[in-house]
Amino acid sequence: MERKENRQLDEHRQKQMLLIDQLQEKTILTADELKELLVERDQIVIEYLCKKASTICERHYGRKIYARALIEFTNYCRNDCLYCGIRSSNKKIERYRLSDQEIFDCVNEGYQLGFRTYVLQGGEDAYYTKRKIGMIVKKIKENCPDCAVTLSFGEWDRAVYEYWYECGADRYLLRHETADKMHYQTLHPCKMSFDHRRRCLSILKEIGYQTGAGCMIGSPGQTPDLLVKDLLYMKEFQPHMAGIGPFIPQKDTPFASEPSGTVAMTLKMLAIVRLLLPKILLPSTTALATVHPMGRDYGIFAGANVLMPNLTPQRVRGKYILYDNKISTGAESAQKIAFLKEKLNAVGYELCMERGDSLMQEKIQ
Ligand code: 5AD
Repeated sequence: MERKENRQLDEHRQKQMLLIDQLQEKTILTADELKELLVERDQIVIEYLCKKASTICERHYGRKIYARALIEFTNYCRNDCLYCGIRSSNKKIERYRLSDQEIFDCVNEGYQLGFRTYVLQGGEDAYYTKRKIGMIVKKIKENCPDCAVTLSFGEWDRAVYEYWYECGADRYLLRHETADKMHYQTLHPCKMSFDHRRRCLSILKEIGYQTGAGCMIGSPGQTPDLLVKDLLYMKEFQPHMAGIGPFIPQKDTPFASEPSGTVAMTLKMLAIVRLLLPKILLPSTTALATVHPMGRDYGIFAGANVLMPNLTPQRVRGKYILYDNKISTGAESAQKIAFLKEKLNAVGYELCMERGDSLMQEKIQ
């Protein structure tokens, strides 16, 4: 009896490992096969998947982990996403905006610390007009021409995106959140449109931004079938970057009592994305490091190669509460970069402070 079970397990493992090899060899798997990998529970198979992913990452990027300094410049937001702590109907959070000067001071401090990429992230806050953001980007690029500026500031018109690109913005992060329209509608108020978000992503890429898509893992109502859709969408869209982290509840949102996404599912998604898009830039997210003390390392072991230490001024750090218990001190803090370097060295990786552009530069037709 036991022998039969062992044989079945061996056969299962071999079949799954073959699927993983096929993924790496650029054979497109069917939706069913991708789903089989996502629901896999056998630790040996999951480790095999992660190992393949980190090996392919190393082949393209070496054992370098790219550092980006994150500046959360406003937590005002006109949107009301059901999962997000800075949603407009959350009256409990204290709102803040950074002045232009505060943003420049952050960048200067980051430059001294060695950062060469700044991610300006904020809620969709119309206080920062097209011109204002444009001026901020221009000034950063004038002062630090060797740096990349990434915007992560939500949905705007083509003309606005074009203007910021002309001002010197290099990259834009806009997670697609979920590739299923019905699911999208359960996570967002009806004013927000799945199609518009998709259009924004296509426009950003057309303009020439290195573009980041991505999704939360374990958001309420998500199923493995929906995650397969996320994978197929990302494979088709070919983003230069993908932000993939677990959903974590925030107590003042409608999803306050929903469970967090799991580490295991997040790692499987990271690893599969790495195999589907070998040259992608893939952060090991703060959310992953928040749900597990080893999350940051596990993400890297599953093929992630970017970290985004927090450079938001101390005065407001802690107020950008997308989800509860978000970490922003210790190795998550830009100021503690030496500590982060040590931690990465200890597991055989090197923190890389260069701009670290995506190797996926070619545009899709
Ligand atoms: N848990 C995890 N990630 C979240 N985000 C927003 N709210 C949460 C949450 N509760 C993510 C979204 C957004 C990014 C800036 O933060 O995916 O795109």
